Amino acid sequence: MDGRDLVRSVRMIRAVGPAQGLRSVRAAWRARRADARALPRRVTERARVPGPARGAESRPGGGLIHFTRSSLRVRVASGGAVFCGWDGAGPEPSYALAGACPEVDPRAVLEPDTEGGWRVVSERVLVVISRYGAVEVRTPGGAVLRREQPPRWWDRTEGGGCTEDGGRTEDPDAPRAGRPEASGASRWVLRSEVAADARFFGLGGRAHGPRLRDGEYRLWNTDPGGAFEPGDDPLSLTMPVQMVVADAGTHLVFHDNSWDGRVLLREGVEGVGSGHDRPGSCQLRMDGGPLRYWVLAGTPARVLQVWTALTGAPALPPRWALGHQHARWGFGGQDEVRRVVSGYQERGLPLSAVHMDIDHYDRHRVFTVDRARYPDLPGLARELRAEGVRLVSIVDPAVKAEPGNAVYEGGRSAGAFVRDARGREVRGVVWAGESVYPDFTDAGVREWWGERYAERLAQGFSGFWHDMNEPVSFAPFGEPTLPRSARHALEGTGGDHREAHNVYALAMARAGFEGLCELRPEERPFLFSRSGWAGLQRYGGTWSGDVATGWPGLRASLSLVLGLGLCGVPYSGPDVGGFSAEPCPELYLRWFQLGAYLPLFRTHSAFWAGRREPWEFGAEVLGHARTALRERQRLLPYFGTLGQLARLTGAPYVRPVWWNTPRDRALRDCEDAFLLGDALLVAPVLAAGVTRRPVRLPRGRWYDTATGRAYCGPGRVWVDAPLSRIPVLARAGAVLPVAGADGATELEVWAPSAGRGGGGLVVPDAGDGWQQPAVERFTTRREDDRVVVERRDGRPVGYPVRVRGLEGEEGRCRNPSE
Ligand code: GLC
Repeated sequence: MDGRDLVRSVRMIRAVGPAQGLRSVRAAWRARRADARALPRRVTERARVPGPARGAESRPGGGLIHFTRSSLRVRVASGGAVFCGWDGAGPEPSYALAGACPEVDPRAVLEPDTEGGWRVVSERVLVVISRYGAVEVRTPGGAVLRREQPPRWWDRTEGGGCTEDGGRTEDPDAPRAGRPEASGASRWVLRSEVAADARFFGLGGRAHGPRLRDGEYRLWNTDPGGAFEPGDDPLSLTMPVQMVVADAGTHLVFHDNSWDGRVLLREGVEGVGSGHDRPGSCQLRMDGGPLRYWVLAGTPARVLQVWTALTGAPALPPRWALGHQHARWGFGGQDEVRRVVSGYQERGLPLSAVHMDIDHYDRHRVFTVDRARYPDLPGLARELRAEGVRLVSIVDPAVKAEPGNAVYEGGRSAGAFVRDARGREVRGVVWAGESVYPDFTDAGVREWWGERYAERLAQGFSGFWHDMNEPVSFAPFGEPTLPRSARHALEGTGGDHREAHNVYALAMARAGFEGLCELRPEERPFLFSRSGWAGLQRYGGTWSGDVATGWPGLRASLSLVLGLGLCGVPYSGPDVGGFSAEPCPELYLRWFQLGAYLPLFRTHSAFWAGRREPWEFGAEVLGHARTALRERQRLLPYFGTLGQLARLTGAPYVRPVWWNTPRDRALRDCEDAFLLGDALLVAPVLAAGVTRRPVRLPRGRWYDTATGRAYCGPGRVWVDAPLSRIPVLARAGAVLPVAGADGATELEVWAPSAGRGGGGLVVPDAGDGWQQPAVERFTTRREDDRVVVERRDGRPVGYPVRVRGLEGEEGRCRNPSE
């Protein structure tokens, strides 16, 4: 046990108590013993590189290149996504892909290249393969987006000692190295280079982004065991998905491999030494699994569109899930829930949902209710629903292993729980005590689990909050999850937790989502999950997890939402106020004001960290929080439109400021503001005592929505940020749907600059079902002092229009250097 383990133990005992602590010590020992018994300890490893090419053959959408010690399949799909699979790896099976692998682009062909290599030429990218297996992905114009060195594997065979013989096998004429016994058994490393000016983003939810600086990022979903801050890595939702943005172009690379891995990033430097650039580099080391990846190139919008076509359209949250939601760990019972809801109502604070944490369960057992404190939960749900407030239930995957617990007994007879190599149930420790874990990588188990939500629906819950699904087993030492040797079905292929760990929560989300679609087919499920993997958006969203209360935590909240959006998961948000401690009123307010512009707008905290109702922080904060809540309410039609657009195009609600202009280097480095859709730029206050802040603007004219003052980008301007609000700027020419005083949608139009047009999209409310509303397109233009708004399809505009940015002070553009 090292120092970190000790800190973890102390935190854990604080959260779960000494009895649970003791159980978890036992579980950690059991896990250690199980792994020692079942995982091969003594392996012989032989390094291998592809060696020289022996020939190539054309295949649909590309080709297959044979090397002395491996092969590479390059396959361009119809949307322009390029697949590269080494050692016989194909795109399927994959937990990330939404359905069948996309059709190949028949126009992409393999051709011989100079110097004995090959090239695959397609409409959007050019892939050049050297005769030793280096791969370059270039734009059609020839600019290099990424350059990959030949990969290197360490093939394992059981028994004997451990040798690493990299030098010898790098010689292409060396005898062929041993092949792995099992296909997933080889470790491998892939090194690549990108332009010196490139910036890295993504890798799932990272606390110290959104721009990923030099460092190591682990690919292993992990409960940080207490609250996290920037610098803590990994967190609950990792993904081998990177977006790389450079002058030459933007691309996304996805290594479709769920094993444990490490990404070592190093940003490039321009003009080092004698004026030469040092390229950026990425080294990916995986503990096993296939070496296969996808590269998607184009504008950021195009890349996300192709990415979500590949991995699935983001689920559309029901409209109510775009309003404010209040969660609490530690409600005393149903009277307290009612009191909190009344508190919101009496103070004129809009509220959409209340989230109920583990304490509403009967002794923390999932799919039960503490009847003493909640004698009539369905009644409470009905009553609140009539007032426009929904109930959301936490759902943890671990099931208390105890005779008499119906979920345990039912799961046992269904053979639902993860077993060890000797066929015994694997037991871990979570809130309820000693527990077992459903194997969500088994279709039958997913179905069984999905049916369990019937009980939740009967209790009146409308939405679901999946938690502790990395999955967690409290551990004072070792890994706080299942043993790596635990067995999983993995859709019938069979494997262990090394492969299943990272997709566990994704598969749980699928179980919940599909179960709810069966049980309540007329309504779209609302589900968000702490952990997940590539493709999570198909089933729902996520939230920050236990972000530490403090200004760094506030910053981390924004970084998580931005990074996840670039990985295809658009719906997320933080625990407003931070999870771990009592925020000072100013911090709470600034967090609240940021949260009001993020898709999931939810107040929450640990039971020991004080309360999060807006009236707990004094009259001034309450007043400003009310303003933020009302603005959120007013923007609901816009949020609804952004949700629909995310579903249709993959574009996240919350976008980095470089979204439309990725070549603007200053914007690429700007991490303290974001675009909300196309129309708004939000510049939150992320530090104490700030009442005015610099805002870096993309090109064009932007209006401060509070004062109407116009600023011209690109450039940096100073904008007022009094305690009462954070700066929000609107793009000239933008059209955004907002709720008018009577609640009906109207169009807020920001005057276009003279001689320039503008426009926007509106997708009307789809209700809570599956209806697919049409996208309405509007254009704006200036005619003398008038702003003309028209519908693209020539039909009447159909909404009241309110033009802003024309009158008096509002229209004058300020020089950004003022
Ligand atoms: C985890 C969750 C947190 C929740 C707590 C109790 O720490 O991240 O949101 O309140 O568990 O269920």
